[in-house]
Amino acid sequence: MTTDFNPLDHPEADHSAAGGPAVGGPEAERREAGGPVSRVRLADGRTAWLLTGHADVVRVLNDPRFSRAAAVLPAPRATPDVAIRSSPDALINMDPPRHTAVRRLITAGLPRRVRAIRPRLARTATRLLAGIAADGPPADFVARYALPLPTIAICDLLGVPEEDHHLFHAWARVRYLDAEHTAEQATEAFDRLRDHLSAIIARRRAEPAEDLVSDIVRASEQPSEGELLTNLLAFVIAGHNNSATLLATGLLTLCRHPAQLGLLRRRPELLPGAVEETLRHTRF
Ligand code: HEM
Repeated sequence: MTTDFNPLDHPEADHSAAGGPAVGGPEAERREAGGPVSRVRLADGRTAWLLTGHADVVRVLNDPRFSRAAAVLPAPRATPDVAIRSSPDALINMDPPRHTAVRRLITAGLPRRVRAIRPRLARTATRLLAGIAADGPPADFVARYALPLPTIAICDLLGVPEEDHHLFHAWARVRYLDAEHTAEQATEAFDRLRDHLSAIIARRRAEPAEDLVSDIVRASEQPSEGELLTNLLAFVIAGHNNSATLLATGLLTLCRHPAQLGLLRRRPELLPGAVEETLRHTRF
């Protein structure tokens, strides 16, 4: 890939999504213009209140009269991975004090583990980009970089051996890339992922290693098997879409703002700020 290559200039580039919902767009703007509190209809037909003002959101999130756990309902038409996200055993669906305890279990060792995988992850990123550059344009950035990189990062964090990464890649492709998949294929990919994680938990219980699963197993006194598995699966699910979306929309946004892209190329030390800005700019 030459440094002045811009995917948006390529004849196969699809401009129809310009200004689409992933990076703002009319629907998000309409909602925000409707005021900080508006009534919205959810996918299953129920209605809910949508808060878009920062102060309102902070107030509600910190007010114990609002409960996450009380709002958990079985997911309609759920494939198993969607069902995990609506499990009462999943971190995102708990209230304090249970939430505080489980969250601490998962996050206590996380910064150290992230630092440990960083050098290998940087090499992986370089390898994925080198593969794209070697093949030349056009390239499917999501399939070849934005999705596999989070998958590899999560596998490394959890201590999934490299020869088993393919199970995670297969699930991620079915879940996020392959729009043609059947419900059976999605279920099969997820079942293989779940069985594998279950085996990892059993192995780490018997013989702890240097990874996040071992940290959690070590730190938890009486973790129920279901809670542990549900939250590790939720961790895998939670880590994919947001990261892949950020990487893909970050690149797209820079391509749409060539002056900012040029600035970043000249002054790579601005990168941390650019990541923060992209996080604020991207709608997930
Ligand atoms: C660009 C990247 C990411 C963004 C923007 C993002 C955003 C968020 C947001 C907004 C929440 C709060 C959801 C809620 O309370 O309902 C959340 C929760 C969570 N995220 Fe992420 N996330 C990202 C990456 C990741 C990654 C890489 C992982 C794990 C590998 C992860 C795991 C989680 C977990 C476990 C929770 C639940 C935390 C809790 O309930 O205390 N996220 N994330």
